[in-house]
Amino acid sequence: MRIGITGATGFIGQALAKAASDRGHGIVVFSRRKDLFLPWAKDIRPYDADSPTVLDPSGLDALVHLAGESVLGYWTAKKKARIMDSRVETTRRIVEAMKACPKPPAAFLCASGTGAYGDQGDDILTETSKRGTGFLADVCTEWEAAACRAIPLGVRVVLLRTGMVLGLNGGSWPLLRRVFKLRIGSRLGSGKQWVPWVHLDDEVGMILKALETPQINGPLNLVSPNPVTNAEMTQLIAKRLRTRTLPPVPGFLLKLVMGELSSIVLDSQRVLPATAQGHGYPFKFETLEAALANFEC
Ligand SMILES: NC(=O)c1ccc[n+]([C@@H]2O[C@H](COP(=O)([O-])OP(=O)(O)OC[C@H]3O[C@@H](n4cnc5c(N)ncnc54)[C@H](OP(=O)(O)O)[C@@H]3O)[C@@H](O)[C@H]2O)c1
Repeated sequence: MRIGITGATGFIGQALAKAASDRGHGIVVFSRRKDLFLPWAKDIRPYDADSPTVLDPSGLDALVHLAGESVLGYWTAKKKARIMDSRVETTRRIVEAMKACPKPPAAFLCASGTGAYGDQGDDILTETSKRGTGFLADVCTEWEAAACRAIPLGVRVVLLRTGMVLGLNGGSWPLLRRVFKLRIGSRLGSGKQWVPWVHLDDEVGMILKALETPQINGPLNLVSPNPVTNAEMTQLIAKRLRTRTLPPVPGFLLKLVMGELSSIVLDSQRVLPATAQGHGYPFKFETLEAALANFEC
């Protein structure tokens, strides 16, 4: 397939582009950067959020849309607007560009997050569960709605509801490792909140599975089959890094210091990869213990 990827320079995008290229797919990179040199890319095209069409989707079999302003950082009104607009408005315009294309890509895989489920305690959440509330849930809902505007064009739309991705050189792991190595890691809030984590290899593996399986469409939870509570995660990381933890940080303090962003660590999402498992995706890292053992200390 000829696969276009936005955000191909990012943490997930880079790994996806490499894995897809290794499987023989041709990769078209869309980027805001002007001086990119990627010998493995079939083509590098501009990604311009200020242009009416954002990008040129012509000649693609599939488009994977991962680009977006990082959700990390203090959520001021301006930051929140950037998080929302860099996803929703650009996705809406990308779909317009597909509409104008004589032959739009057959599949559109658009990033989203388990944030779509908000905070649902111990409830088990699959792709058919109800959405949650809060800023991230709103972002995901509007982002997914913008992507679904491609369905009437005959495009297969897959909504990539990604959990916390753990990889050696990006995402949350380098920060977690630094914090725990400094012996300032600790349980957050009650520690009872569920964390829907996934190893980068499985994140990429499930996206490839979705690209290559025409029967997969709609929401797709990209998480491991064994979510853990924050308390379990804290314990496992401390064990892996052979370090001690500090006493728990109370939830109210996190809310005071982090503001609304604290929802990222305090919301409980016991999410399962029901669709991926239903399609027989073979997980490489089923447990957090196995995933952590894959990273150097
Ligand atoms: N990592 C996770 O744990 C996780 C969890 C849930 C959901 N997700 C979602 O999955 C997607 C990919 O995640 P990631 O961790 O790979 O992200 P990332 O490393 O931050 O990379 C995202 C890419 O998007 C582009 N970008 C950055 N800011 C942008 C902006 N303001 N407007 C337009 N493009 C911008 C950049 O590409 P160029 O500079 O080349 O244009 C960047 O390489 C994101 O949309 C993220 O929200 C990630």
